[in-house]
Amino acid sequence: MDAQEAKKLSFNLITLDPDENCPASLVTENITGKFNDLEKLSILNEKSDVISYELEHIDIEAVKKIIPPEKIFPSIKVLEIIQDKYKQKLFFKEKGIPLPFFKEVKDISDLKENIPVVQKARSGGYDGKGVVVLKTEEDLKKAIKVPSYIEELVDIEKELAVMVVRDKKRNTVVYPVVEMVFNPEGHLLDYLITPADMDEKVYKEAQNVAVSAVEALDGIGVFGVELFLDKMGRILLNEVAPRPHNSGHYTIEACETSQFEQHIRVLADLPLGSSRQIVPALTMNIIGEPDSFGKPVYEGLNDIMAVDGVNVHIYGKKLVKPFRKMGHITIVDFDRKRLLEKANFIKKVFKVKGNRSY
Ligand SMILES: Nc1ncnc2c1ncn2[C@@H]1O[C@H](COP(=O)(O)OP(=O)(O)OP(=O)(O)O)[C@@H](O)[C@H]1O
Ligand SMILES: [Mg+2]
Repeated sequence: MDAQEAKKLSFNLITLDPDENCPASLVTENITGKFNDLEKLSILNEKSDVISYELEHIDIEAVKKIIPPEKIFPSIKVLEIIQDKYKQKLFFKEKGIPLPFFKEVKDISDLKENIPVVQKARSGGYDGKGVVVLKTEEDLKKAIKVPSYIEELVDIEKELAVMVVRDKKRNTVVYPVVEMVFNPEGHLLDYLITPADMDEKVYKEAQNVAVSAVEALDGIGVFGVELFLDKMGRILLNEVAPRPHNSGHYTIEACETSQFEQHIRVLADLPLGSSRQIVPALTMNIIGEPDSFGKPVYEGLNDIMAVDGVNVHIYGKKLVKPFRKMGHITIVDFDRKRLLEKANFIKKVFKVKGNRSY
């Protein structure tokens, strides 16, 4: 999606990805190689004027060896803080950003004494995989065994996200607040709705905390800031992603400038665009059915694309697997009620299956 925006301005994007058929390769020149392949990183470096990344699990040592620090945004310093979630928490605490209470885990007794508690892997987790909620002593069996820390179990009223963009001159643009609605059965996201329906003062506070977090990092680039609103009305920072974010996808159709275009603008030293939202939006992920496998088959595509305001993004992954994210859909509608009606219709009729099953 970055590359699609770059093309509008006739910029070329070169990507490094281990899969030669990766989604980006539809619109970029892809260098096929692992993210820590020094030779491939050198080719990327030689061919590029400026470099960014859109996942945070990259090998910092490899990048440091090849890419000059002044050429990569957000900076490696920012990535180092963010990659280790515990380090990230310590950093934000020192900067006075409101956070859930947290503590390092030294051994299992630290967990037992703090039940109910949330245990999180320090690094490597995504889509909730490095996160476990320990409510009873019985749950201790589920404890993760990699370096981790614990957080208070927040009594969540709403999960929120705010995109923040900051350019090299430190101009900052903040986007509307997104509400992330999760499926109660797991950490899987159900849908995102923007703007979040909430008290105006708290809404502003969510934006302020998001901006403060990115400023504290002295971040340059696009940042997805995940927040909690708890039942007592506190806004707490959950985590910061140093890249365009799932919760910013709605900006493509609903805002004057998309998060991806902003990313390109920052990298190319162009002025930031307006973040103004033009129309309410709901985004849902397109994920593989629980028993899907093989070449993806998009069932019901014609039915949903016939509906006004339904924007389908299919990433072009060659294989579907159970729960694999294959794309996303953003629905826009001036009538907020209709957003949910359309989302329910999509859930009912649209399925990603595979041409083979387990
Ligand atoms: N302290 C907490 N209290 C209550 N629930 C929490 C807490 N921390 C995390 N969660 C729940 O777990 C989910 C995943 O946590 P977190 O965002 O830290 O992990 P992640 O692995 O980065 O997940 P993702 O990639 O989906 O963002 C959150 O969206 C939230 O629903
Ligand atoms: Mg998260």
